Amino acid sequence: MSKIRRYSIGTFMDTGAVISKLPKETGEIPYLKRIQRMELKKSDKEPQEEMVQRDEMVYHLSFQDRIYGLGENVRGINKRGWLYESNCTDDPNHTESKHSLYGAHNFFVVDGRETFGVFLDYPGKLILDMGYGQMDEIRIVPQDWNLDVYILEGGSILEIVKSFRKLIGRSYIPPKWAFGYGQSRWGYQSAAEIREVVKGYRENGIPLDAVYLDIDYMEGFKDFTIDKERFPDFPKFAEEMRKEHIHLVPIIDAGVKIEEGYEVYEEGKKNGYFCKDQEGKEFVGAVWPGKVHFPDVLNKEARKWFGQKYQGLLEQGIEGFWNDMNEPAIFYSEKNLEQVLKKIKSMKSRNMDMWEVFAFRDIVNGLANNPKDYSSFYHEIEGKKICHDKVHNLYGFGMTRAAGEAFEELEPEKRILLFSRASYIGMHRYGGVWMGDNQSWWSHLLLNLKMLPSLNMCGFLYTGADLGGFGSDVTEDLLLRWLALGIFTPLMRNHSALGTREQECYRFTQTEVFRNLIGIRYGLMPYLYSEYMKAALKDEMLFMPLAFVYPEDAHAREVEDQLLVGESIMIAPVYTQNAGGRYVYLPEPMKLVRLKDMEHIETEVLEQGHYYIEISLEEVVFFIRPGKIVPYTKAEQYVKEIPAEELRLMHFEAEGLEYELYQDDGFEKDYENPEHFKRLGVK
Ligand code: GLC
Repeated sequence: MSKIRRYSIGTFMDTGAVISKLPKETGEIPYLKRIQRMELKKSDKEPQEEMVQRDEMVYHLSFQDRIYGLGENVRGINKRGWLYESNCTDDPNHTESKHSLYGAHNFFVVDGRETFGVFLDYPGKLILDMGYGQMDEIRIVPQDWNLDVYILEGGSILEIVKSFRKLIGRSYIPPKWAFGYGQSRWGYQSAAEIREVVKGYRENGIPLDAVYLDIDYMEGFKDFTIDKERFPDFPKFAEEMRKEHIHLVPIIDAGVKIEEGYEVYEEGKKNGYFCKDQEGKEFVGAVWPGKVHFPDVLNKEARKWFGQKYQGLLEQGIEGFWNDMNEPAIFYSEKNLEQVLKKIKSMKSRNMDMWEVFAFRDIVNGLANNPKDYSSFYHEIEGKKICHDKVHNLYGFGMTRAAGEAFEELEPEKRILLFSRASYIGMHRYGGVWMGDNQSWWSHLLLNLKMLPSLNMCGFLYTGADLGGFGSDVTEDLLLRWLALGIFTPLMRNHSALGTREQECYRFTQTEVFRNLIGIRYGLMPYLYSEYMKAALKDEMLFMPLAFVYPEDAHAREVEDQLLVGESIMIAPVYTQNAGGRYVYLPEPMKLVRLKDMEHIETEVLEQGHYYIEISLEEVVFFIRPGKIVPYTKAEQYVKEIPAEELRLMHFEAEGLEYELYQDDGFEKDYENPEHFKRLGVK
């Protein structure tokens, strides 16, 4: 039996994370103890350190305790042993030394001596020390003590997660085409260039459903505009692409360019919809177009206005968007830049020593995403002026909610693709997330895998990383290996940064292998789509660590590089360069499936145990669990072509097996219609 209790500390602000408002409990919070500690801190006034009191919530960890969750984050599936900071951050270097990425997902489960879940509904910066300061202690330190603490109990981790997911509401469901393969790159300059990309895929028979439009489609990086010279007659172009079964997915950025005569700027300014500074003037930051204002998406009216702006693109044939730079990222603020330039001018020395060079570097690096800037602008939330740093983690959520709420109104019957970079729990009802600016590093392939279950725990089912890596130069083998994981992630998108090696699959030598690998995604779609839909409709996880499914198995509990995908499949992708295979742990007998394409499938039943499995660059390998079925079909060029009939079944040898298949038209919203659920069986 699962149980959720809510405790309120201080004045709580409704973040929109939960959908069922639980009554507040009185009395002590179970598991977490609120304590005060004295700490030595550098003083602002005195030369020596001073003693300060620090309030925190602590939990004493025993040796065997593991910690799971925290959504999009660095490090392992088991989060124990590091200090995380819940603070949506624009940082393209996702190294182990970092404390936060783009999302703020304050839900975790402790499993060991006691098993319980904690959700901290708090929109400001929050320290989650998971056994870093002291190895046997969880320490929770919010910026101020105004938050809701939810304590969740249940018979297992999966039960606790499910009850949490019920509390926060159903995960976002994209249109079915958004499960197809997508190609993206920062730098596609024109309709002509996009036609070339589509041609590259179609001519080589590599499946493709979407091409993403990065900032270059806009006129001067202005939201909701299209450069008319490089994209003449955009609706016609969108139509032409649709005929090729390609969906165009434009990016929308958080900052609105300050430019007289630009409609979005003029309207926002006239109606007071932008965030203001201390003096009540519009806050000026800078992003791609130079100086911008940030729409106050935490204000109901402004949010509605910003959401309605997506209509123009919907009317031109667009059916999906990605929301970006919504931590919000700030390259510099007008005020800070002035100060920095003054400081640099006053630096007389032309022979800087180490300290001066360090100081100089810090000044320049401190221009971007400066905490001082985040505490110098304000939102107006229900009549109250609230400093941004108090609600920082809600901005990406607010922007995506703006779009999601508008789509409900503008296209009530239709699913629109939507995902975002920054997020907070609650946003998962409006859209998915991609994992931001990773690098073409082998370690990021593994990080991609590790983030999948923790994101699922926090409600984010529609997710994926930039396959092949965003920054740095990809290698052909890295892209192939990454695609072999990407085949299983709901968002399967290859995206890369301006200036890096071109990463479209047809640019490499092994075209046939790319065709086959991506084809396998389409062949497995009956299974992958069914599992996604069931996970969304039943508040379940799509990607599960082995520890959640085999909690009694000491080996399984430590596996950090294999996952269960839905009810039937376990994956174990290769994530090291030049490896001809990898070690895999089978917690129970399983059927190894080896595919070169959807026509050449080899299988072998293996007993429980440790194995070295050879996996060449041309192959996808996965494992079917005992008693389970995987429905599949032929590889196709785009999602719409995938036949609803002609399903074939892979299964573990046994009789009387059953599988619940989910099939719908993929764009309407009558999710619960019983006709969508079909039973497949092996007699
Ligand atoms: C940000 C996004 C990246 C995009 C780039 C240019 O870095 O995370 O995906 O390509 O901006 O828009």
